[in-house]
Amino acid sequence: ARKIILDCDPGHDDAIALLVAHGDPRVDLVAVTTVAGNQTIDKITRNALAVGRIAGITGVPFARGAERPLVRSPRIAPDIHGDSGLDGPVLPEPVIELDPRPAAQLIVDTVMAHPAGAITLVPTGPLTNIALAARLEPRIVDRVREVVLMGGGVGVGNTTAAAEFNIVVDPEAAHVVFDAGWAVTMVGLDLTHQAIADDAVAERITAIGTAPARFVGELLDFFRGSYRHVFGFPDGPPVHDACAVAFVIDPDVMTTRAVPITVELHGEHTAGMTVADLRRPALEECRTRAAVTLDRDRFWDLVVGAVKGLGDP
Ligand code: BDR
Ligand code: CA
Repeated sequence: ARKIILDCDPGHDDAIALLVAHGDPRVDLVAVTTVAGNQTIDKITRNALAVGRIAGITGVPFARGAERPLVRSPRIAPDIHGDSGLDGPVLPEPVIELDPRPAAQLIVDTVMAHPAGAITLVPTGPLTNIALAARLEPRIVDRVREVVLMGGGVGVGNTTAAAEFNIVVDPEAAHVVFDAGWAVTMVGLDLTHQAIADDAVAERITAIGTAPARFVGELLDFFRGSYRHVFGFPDGPPVHDACAVAFVIDPDVMTTRAVPITVELHGEHTAGMTVADLRRPALEECRTRAAVTLDRDRFWDLVVGAVKGLGDP
């Protein structure tokens, strides 16, 4: 199984990503780290621990991460995820105890304790912790197998016309991550907007009948409302973050293309934009890729299978 560190800000779709990562035997969750993004770090960390309990996760370290971006002022998304960051379901009291290390330290320790090429980083929130870890211990850049992140997009934004939330919250951190030299696959909005949890999907999930499946159903109910009201999505919400985890589980769920990508830091209208250079075929040494097309059936089969795989913990 592929070993991953999930660095997240749950967040409805982060919660689904965490459940899928634990429920599918093809990935091995070796650490979970939290970052301020959808809500404050206190709320996000609490949510992560509660979702860990619902998933039945034991023996995996959870660590609290950055409480604010590297340079910019904090920015949260209560319009999308509610006041708790995970509005909708009633959350259980967490039982998992937090690891005492800061997230960036846990990431460094975990990557350095494994052989080169063993660990894949899967960030599904702002990239603050990942940038801090790369600066704290630069040797992780060559040691990590790859970074598969949810963020950005090619020619599409959500928080601004040009920029996606995870990138625009901490563009400086994102710049560090895209330019570090490790392999980065950007699972951006142009991909995740193909992963719409419509009514048929929601019915398939709730039909599983277990507590985690009911929880996903409740997450989707709230998330559907946010996406309808804020963005006018008629059919359902996109489960962005689960797409990044799904790609690690089964690369055939999507196609990707090699393309140089960097992050705009200064534009009045474009700060936080992921700028992809599509002018010509990428050079052999290009280390960044963008996700392009989702195999929807394969993706939803994977998600449903993983939620089933959790059983009723
Ligand atoms: C991203 O922002 C957050 O609201 C979601 O959890 C996802 O990671 C989508 O832009
Ligand atoms: Ca997220």
